Amino acid sequence: MSQRTKIKALLQSQQTEIDVTVKGWVRAFRSNRFIALNDGSTNNNIQIVVDFENTDPALLKRITVGAALSVEGKLIASLGKGQTVEVVATEIEILGDSDPEKYPIQPKKHSLEFLRENAHLRFRTSTFGAIFRVRNSLAFAVHQFFQERGFVYLHTPVITASDAEGAGETFHVTNFDLDNIPKTETGEIDFKQDFFGRATNLTVSGQLEGELGAMALSDIYTFGPTFRAENSNTTRHLAEFWMIEPEVAFNDLVDNMDLAEDMLKYVIKYALDKNADDIEFLTQRLTEEEKTKPQNERSEMTLLEKLQFCLNNDFERLTYTEAIDILKESTPNKKKKFAYPVEGWGTDLQSEHERYLVEKHFKKPVILTDYPKEIKAFYMRQNDDGKTVRAMDILFPGIGEIVGGSQREERLDKLEQRMNEMGIPTEELWWYLDTRRFGSCPHAGFGLGFERLVLFVTGMGNIRDVIPFPRFPKNAEF
Ligand code: 4AD
Ligand code: MG
Repeated sequence: MSQRTKIKALLQSQQTEIDVTVKGWVRAFRSNRFIALNDGSTNNNIQIVVDFENTDPALLKRITVGAALSVEGKLIASLGKGQTVEVVATEIEILGDSDPEKYPIQPKKHSLEFLRENAHLRFRTSTFGAIFRVRNSLAFAVHQFFQERGFVYLHTPVITASDAEGAGETFHVTNFDLDNIPKTETGEIDFKQDFFGRATNLTVSGQLEGELGAMALSDIYTFGPTFRAENSNTTRHLAEFWMIEPEVAFNDLVDNMDLAEDMLKYVIKYALDKNADDIEFLTQRLTEEEKTKPQNERSEMTLLEKLQFCLNNDFERLTYTEAIDILKESTPNKKKKFAYPVEGWGTDLQSEHERYLVEKHFKKPVILTDYPKEIKAFYMRQNDDGKTVRAMDILFPGIGEIVGGSQREERLDKLEQRMNEMGIPTEELWWYLDTRRFGSCPHAGFGLGFERLVLFVTGMGNIRDVIPFPRFPKNAEF
């Protein structure tokens, strides 16, 4: 295997006048002389200087935007402006041609919509290179955070027979023979038989299985893909997204909030340190985008300032009931009212309400707790008031809900009673209820929507732009 030096390392090299081999894709080629080459290790390109007078003109013609090259040459201190080092080429090999007439990615600014249609090639742009390096760092930091604290990474199943959230938003998993689909007596498709004779679906959450692990290993987390069959075309929802779900035995809701806040701050700080240049690039991108908006809609802080602000301030903690009182008294601005007026206690908050609390009222991340039991899942611990549960949602500026979690109902009688009230079959979840039968204990956990975190840290506006291969209604080609 041939040696190559990554462009990031070359650009940081203290040594010059050394022979190097560099490989990458052409971002630009000007004056038949200067190639901007990128290999994805950094947003910055290395400049390759071509001795065009002594280079075969046929080869020069093949140095086009998008072509893959292998270059041997000498790393020297750059004579030109804009870079500290450059490579004077002694040998250029074209590894893969790229027809400039057909290659969709040109050295100019493309719209995000255009790049979404060319998602198979969008990795080759500066913006998407930065996004996916930041995403990688955040994923690594999540593992590092939990591993440093002695959590066990537990792999929960993708195929399951349960609907952890009880919201009925599941994708069936089927191995039906399409020519011989089993039917019920009344002639409908018999989904009860879809997976080797059993009804199954793709998981909406690893929580219930995660709780089984926590009731023995004490501190666990999951980090895997989850699936929701909600037909929503929003900038915050995907049909397939990644979720991080810690579950901790003996934790109560306050411990749970502390863990979530610590984790969010840890991973954001990690990305800020590790990907300083990418975040700087994304900050500039967002600042440019903001300039196209009317003055009163522009963000008061840059992306970098927003991230630093999040690290340096405690999240605001209050109950759902306190939030409703604030919202009842508020209008989003002098003229406008909420599209969904907050009339009374008990209704779920709309995203406009969440964003008002975070962006206008408190101007910082907010943790709302103790929601009405009617709008939350069956497994949350019931408060003594008989009306609310030990739930927590973390709301972030520009994002809305980023984390959903709770202290769990560890009392068997209360849990069974709530499941019966909500029509959740206790016999199907017998294995889950066993944790409450044998050595039950207080415990708590939460789910962090990974793409919503990546949205926040990259300052992007659409969740489809922060996952390499977005899945949303009618989109699953590659
Ligand atoms: O609030 P959710 O539905 O909570 C659960 O699934 C719990 N079982 C988690 C737990 O306690 N272990 O989802 C958790 C988070 C949300 O706060 C949101 O960030 C994200 O997952 N999320 C989505 N992200 C992208 N697309 C979707 N369709 C999402 N639905 C939820
Ligand atoms: Mg939720």
